[in-house]
Amino acid sequence: MYKRGTKSVCFLLLALLWDSGYVLTIKRGDTAAHVNLMAFHRLPNKCNVDGFNDWFKVDKYCVKYFSKPLNFTDAEDSCKRTVPGGHLVSVHDAGANNDLHSIVTKMNPKNLRMWLGGYEFFQTGKFLWTDGSFWDYEDWTSGEPINIYSSKEECVEMNWKGAAKWNDDSCFNKKGFICAFKRKGIMDK
Ligand SMILES: *[C@@H]1O[C@H](CO)[C@@H](O)[C@H](O)[C@H]1NC(C)=O
Repeated sequence: MYKRGTKSVCFLLLALLWDSGYVLTIKRGDTAAHVNLMAFHRLPNKCNVDGFNDWFKVDKYCVKYFSKPLNFTDAEDSCKRTVPGGHLVSVHDAGANNDLHSIVTKMNPKNLRMWLGGYEFFQTGKFLWTDGSFWDYEDWTSGEPINIYSSKEECVEMNWKGAAKWNDDSCFNKKGFICAFKRKGIMDK
């Protein structure tokens, strides 16, 4: 379940007012105490690209979660139609992986399984990303991927077992997914 990683705390603002001597002013306010442990569930910043303000900034990409379940190829096609240069999301480090997990946890807490853009290249045991970026990071759940070298499970999903962990699943299964486009691809501000 999604737990807010924020806790209201008070902070003290100390100001020295030099014109009336040394006067101590104390202001109280709410601020978010983001404890490191809880950073896992913090939503990433908004994507600052015009027209895509409901997307999030993750790594070099703007990303958006779609809850309508589609099979892998339909999900990829939908991403391409949604935005120029769009694809299912590729993941290149643990920070981005956690961000994607946070997004789906917030948007669809009851159904976390979703497609990433990874797929096995013709039963070779090698995985690729639909956006053509390098396969330079992976975070399989223990024991996965189990169906490599067969045509049974060739596409990569997140959150089957274990938070933010990956699994290879049949591409024709329908699930939510995350689309992404490279921020440099469109005017970045
Ligand atoms: C996904 O569904 C479409 C029909 O909506 C079908 O043409 C396509 O072959 C399916 N792809 C997979 C991988 O199941």
